[in-house]
Amino acid sequence: MKKLSARRRHPLAAVVVLLLALAATGGLYAAFAPADKAQAEETAQSLAIEEGKKLYTVGCASCHGTGGQGTTDGPSLVGVGSAAVDFQVGTGRMPAMQPGAQVPKKPKVYSQAEIDQLAAYVASLGAGPITPTKEQYDPAGADIAKGGELFRTNCAQCHNFTGEGGALTNGKFAPSLEGVSSKHIYEAMQTGPQNMPSFPDATMPEQEKRDIIAYIEAVNGDETPTPGGFGLGGLGPVSEGLFGWIFGLGSLVAVAVWVAAHTAKAKKS
Ligand code: HEC
Ligand code: HEC
Repeated sequence: MKKLSARRRHPLAAVVVLLLALAATGGLYAAFAPADKAQAEETAQSLAIEEGKKLYTVGCASCHGTGGQGTTDGPSLVGVGSAAVDFQVGTGRMPAMQPGAQVPKKPKVYSQAEIDQLAAYVASLGAGPITPTKEQYDPAGADIAKGGELFRTNCAQCHNFTGEGGALTNGKFAPSLEGVSSKHIYEAMQTGPQNMPSFPDATMPEQEKRDIIAYIEAVNGDETPTPGGFGLGGLGPVSEGLFGWIFGLGSLVAVAVWVAAHTAKAKKS
């Protein structure tokens, strides 16, 4: 008892207590913060599902059934996953308008936030392919040459060698892939819309999908349209040439002037 009170009066005691208190709050924070975060995510998720269900009831249930079980006008959506919804609604194919050989692409009807809600609702009906993240579909750094090889063996028979598309039987067609976003290309491979086969990760790993996306973007000239074949790096060679002309020739001219001036001086003297 005496020892303790002696220590309490020690000048460092306050510091020690403060440090202990800080450590305790840190520990408490570490113990409770992740739980709070997980809980917040869970509530956000159930809110999205709720909102999605409302949108679904108004816009989709007439064809796909009130619980997504399907009707004679549309297939069951149980287990198609959020990726299928993001693709179908994001490319404007859904909601379908009139019956035909193939539901066409059109300007999208829902905002991306609403699409996410619809996707959350449909995903809650049954597990299926999940909407990919940017790291999964971002083609930056992927192997274009390998993507070209994969494209020719897996996709070219329907979409043509550079992805301009082509007719299939019975009024169906494989659309042009020009201008399709990386995310939608990835989702098409994941989910296999209509007459297209699906390419799940088991048969086509993520990296191969990214290689294919990189190839499609390269041949379609993401920003600068290139008539056939690969782009030659856009304006690269031209601007480099211009640089060479201006700076290279410029310095040659400067040297020539300097030499001329000096030889003139030398002659005079
Ligand atoms: C007019 C009827 C109709 C409406 C409305 C409609 N769909 Fe569809 N939907 C279809 C048909 C028909 C197909 C099948 C297309 C095919 O594969 O040929 C389909 C297919 C789909 C698929 C692909 C399923 C799969 O197996 O990959 C998804 C996902 C989908 N619809 C979601 C929606 C959502 C979400 C809405 C509401 C925003 C919606 N649909 C509204 C008729 C409809
Ligand atoms: C058997 C023929 C076939 C093969 C093989 C095929 N596709 Fe498709 N693809 C289609 C059809 C048909 C559609 C149209 C589906 C629709 O409208 O719902 C399509 C749609 C797409 C779309 C959506 C385009 C858009 O306008 O939104 C993409 C992207 C795509 N395919 C990429 C690929 C890639 C990449 C491969 C190879 C890994 C591939 N496809 C292999 C037939 C095929």
